[in-house]
Amino acid sequence: MGKIILTGDRPTGRLHLGHFVGSLRRRVELQNSGLFDKVFIMIADAQALTDNADNPEKIRQNIIEVALDYLACGIDPTKSTIFIQSQVAELCELAFYYMNLVTVSRLQRNPTVKTEIQMRNFETSIPVGFFTYPISQASDITAFRATTVPAGEDQQPMIEQAREIVRRFNGIYGDTLVEPEILLPDNAACMRLPGTDGKAKMSKSLGNCIYLSDSPEEVRKRVMSMYTDPDHIRVEDPGKVEGNTVFTYLDAFCRPEHFAQYWPDYSSLDELKAHYMRGGLGDVKVKKFLYAILEELLTPIRERRKEWEKDIPAVFEILKRGSEAARAVAANTLADVRSAMRINYFDDAELIAEQSRKFQG
Ligand code: TRP
Repeated sequence: MGKIILTGDRPTGRLHLGHFVGSLRRRVELQNSGLFDKVFIMIADAQALTDNADNPEKIRQNIIEVALDYLACGIDPTKSTIFIQSQVAELCELAFYYMNLVTVSRLQRNPTVKTEIQMRNFETSIPVGFFTYPISQASDITAFRATTVPAGEDQQPMIEQAREIVRRFNGIYGDTLVEPEILLPDNAACMRLPGTDGKAKMSKSLGNCIYLSDSPEEVRKRVMSMYTDPDHIRVEDPGKVEGNTVFTYLDAFCRPEHFAQYWPDYSSLDELKAHYMRGGLGDVKVKKFLYAILEELLTPIRERRKEWEKDIPAVFEILKRGSEAARAVAANTLADVRSAMRINYFDDAELIAEQSRKFQG
């Protein structure tokens, strides 16, 4: 059986470097690897609405931002199907049936949902849709018979939930659904890129993000004001690299060839780190190096985005075509689900005959 990818993002803002290292970069590689029969990339607007019901305009505005970021990063609509979740109504019906296979206490134990509930200060007023979004996410994944879900570690509980639903469904109704696997980022620094302030995660509300669409000047400002080692006061002082955001970013983005190109005084990141730890190396120099590396990465992304921005109707057309294609696939799975559950009454000649005999006899 072929391998199929499904993954996606909530359109709550433009995508940033955290998304890039955590998922986008990998998706483009996977898309181009030839190892997958199909790649589906979903703009999860319905999921975004589960905690933004009062602000649909935010989601609406960010659909195109996210689509532009995808295209800018090299997601190729001829190789990957990009689609909008809410345009695939079949996903809701699947979720409706899956809801019967999951207990409230199981959802309450989901660590990602738990933290998100805390972060959003829902306390006792948790929207039902938000609480059950892991079930909806299981529909997203299974509707496309995805074998592989490239995602960050925070998505692990969602995939586990989806696997449980698949096992439960197949156990009750017979082999129908495909059990997905998560594909985690491969480099430790990429698992979770901290914000530029050193806080655990890039987040719009903390203002610690570098967006893929930021101008060179915005990127420069963010890099030059990055959190480093607060005890590294004078250049001569020995510095720490652990917990030093600039070095965490270098772990994520620096490749050996960057030294020859931008800083031939060193030949490797280990050598650079050793000097920093010994003392005698100032933050500004390291930040300038990081800025050069980031600009090398971001320049082509920014340029491709600018090109697509000139033709927004074409971007809508890609999303429309993608949503139609996605819908056809999801409808196919839904038909299998209905027939496995034997709720496809009108296609069930056996049922009609049986019921006829019952009432004639
Ligand atoms: N929960 C994911 C996020 O917050 C978005 C998402 C929705 C998703 N459905 C998915 C990711 C299915 C992978 C597979 O970013």
